[in-house]
Amino acid sequence: MSISSASHDHLESVLFEEEVILTRLDELAVEINRDYEGKSLTVVAVLHGSLMMMADLLRRIRLPLKMECLSVESYHGGVESSGKVSFNMKKIPALSGDHVLIVDDILDSGRTLEEITRRISNECDPESIRVAVLLDKKADRVAGIKPDYVGFEIDDLFVVGYGLDYRGRYRNLPFIGTLKPEYLLPEHRSL
Ligand code: IMP
Ligand code: MG
Repeated sequence: MSISSASHDHLESVLFEEEVILTRLDELAVEINRDYEGKSLTVVAVLHGSLMMMADLLRRIRLPLKMECLSVESYHGGVESSGKVSFNMKKIPALSGDHVLIVDDILDSGRTLEEITRRISNECDPESIRVAVLLDKKADRVAGIKPDYVGFEIDDLFVVGYGLDYRGRYRNLPFIGTLKPEYLLPEHRSL
């Protein structure tokens, strides 16, 4: 691959450098270690966006936790939430009696995490449910959900990297930024 086709070159700006993200995860881990001490904790990753945060955050947690994954889709390839959340799995994990911490990359309209927390509380009988997100895009919020742990608040921008994708790409970038317009489909450029 030539340097000019590296995905870094597709970025217009970098919002959060890798060190900044990791330092913030250090701080969130301190809170989570403290809040769940002595409790039976299961951390639920919302795939695929939370994978980077899960790996870096959970390695900073010193509790004997369990890990589960949920596969959902809400964007269907665009840059705005479709409003519909579909679960790509037949069965949701057994969480009865556990304190559940759901981890996702970003809280945008809030529909995805609201639907996930609703289903987990209705179907899984957890002891408690909390939500941790790396990014909180408050301007777009439609649902009433409030995150318990937030890495950073961001303006109403479409961002990629550190788990966040545009049409499936850029999740592997170690930092978070915005894309140059020429790498967005024409119908997404005004957003
Ligand atoms: P919500 O249901 O609108 O809160 O959308 C949440 C999901 O939309 C996240 O888990 C992301 O996968 C995706 N999403 C929202 N904003 C962005 C963004 O700026 N970049 C990439 N994905 C995003
Ligand atoms: Mg996504």
